[in-house]
Amino acid sequence: MTVRDIQRIQDAVAEYWPNVTWVESTGSTNADLLREGAPGTVLIADEQTDAKGRLGRQWVSPKGAQLAMSMVLEVPDPPQPFGLLSVAPGVAVTDVVPEAQLKWPNDVQIGGKKIAGILSALEMPRVIVGIGINVAMRTDDLPTDTSTALNLEGIEVDFDDFTIDILTAMGRRFAQWQQGDPQLLADYRAVCSTIGQQVRIELHDGSVTGAVDTINDEGEVVIDGTAYAVGDVHHLRPQ
Ligand code: BTN
Repeated sequence: MTVRDIQRIQDAVAEYWPNVTWVESTGSTNADLLREGAPGTVLIADEQTDAKGRLGRQWVSPKGAQLAMSMVLEVPDPPQPFGLLSVAPGVAVTDVVPEAQLKWPNDVQIGGKKIAGILSALEMPRVIVGIGINVAMRTDDLPTDTSTALNLEGIEVDFDDFTIDILTAMGRRFAQWQQGDPQLLADYRAVCSTIGQQVRIELHDGSVTGAVDTINDEGEVVIDGTAYAVGDVHHLRPQ
């Protein structure tokens, strides 16, 4: 899948994103916008050859299989918790794909399998947020057996309409973050499948197993009373 009419996308999302561009191929849209890009810039790529994932991992981004893009935001004054920013784009995806749930912090899943990943980088006073949504993958191209794609879940999308819907939802959810709107966290908690789960969280210096009490007001996961801002969560009884 690819963009058919970039002008239509640009016009439809101009309220939130005044500078939307599209390239056939690049190394990483996040790396490109980290180098330069004013707030309101979006870069969409059909293919990334060196895409970055969470925790230093590679991200598989084959040609035409994903909606892969990055966007630049301005950090508000006073700043809002970064942990809440990283949950906003995931909530935006669930606004458009109601079948989806979020594994903390921002793995977008359907039926416990990942359909999208989100990576944010803070470079004051900008934030670069990248997202890769598997829209049309072949089973053979899935990076893990816990990955899936919209088409493989029976959800067919029109690529341009889907791009417009996601960018509009992103614009609204980022505005909630910038304004400190408590509805963002309330909506995140409603779609976060990690709350109440038995989990193992991998930390930089070991791992912890326990029950998730909640996601706190900073967007951190609270496991048996202790809050963690960063880590790789595994649900021990996946759906
Ligand atoms: C994850 O590991 O779950 C996060 C994956 C983030 C991938 C997206 S694709 C667009 C943007 N560019 C990158 O290099 N990474 C992000």
